[in-house]
Amino acid sequence: MVEFDEAFVLSESLLAEPLPDRWRHVQAVASEASRLGGLDGVDAEDLRVAAILHDIGYAPAIAHERFHPLDGARFLAREGCSDRVVALVARHSCAVVEAQLRQVVGVEYYVDEVSPTRDALWYCDATTGPQGQRLTADERWAEIRHRYGAGNVVTAFLDQAEPELRAAVDRTLSRMSTAGIPI
Ligand SMILES: [Fe+2]
Repeated sequence: MVEFDEAFVLSESLLAEPLPDRWRHVQAVASEASRLGGLDGVDAEDLRVAAILHDIGYAPAIAHERFHPLDGARFLAREGCSDRVVALVARHSCAVVEAQLRQVVGVEYYVDEVSPTRDALWYCDATTGPQGQRLTADERWAEIRHRYGAGNVVTAFLDQAEPELRAAVDRTLSRMSTAGIPI
């Protein structure tokens, strides 16, 4: 079990120096996650921990497979994170679809819990830009398509995953509306 403060230090230690933009992004994702802890069905602590750790697999020191959801999940399991947080990281933002496109094996063995906590993590990631700026999901996806271009595997992933990503975003927006949390 890893608590948020410990997770923050772990993420900072691996990302801040080699990947400062990525570190800004994950801090902003965690900050947005902190606003959503009161949503119906959301586990506030697991959401914050998963948010600050979700992209740790980009860290060069642990990027063994060069597929960040899987590298992150395997590292976090070794670090003592709960099975739930490990699986949230492994499956975040429809990673299983990109894994299939890249022919990376392993992500599919983790459970995608399809819960309000999982949806909220996907929402926070989809509404946070590469340097931590706040965006709508549509702005974020347009930015990704522009950055990678047609024909790139990331763009192909987005084309395939967008309906499921959008469903998670829309469910979270609906829960935010019910809870009176502004966008
Ligand atoms: Fe992310």
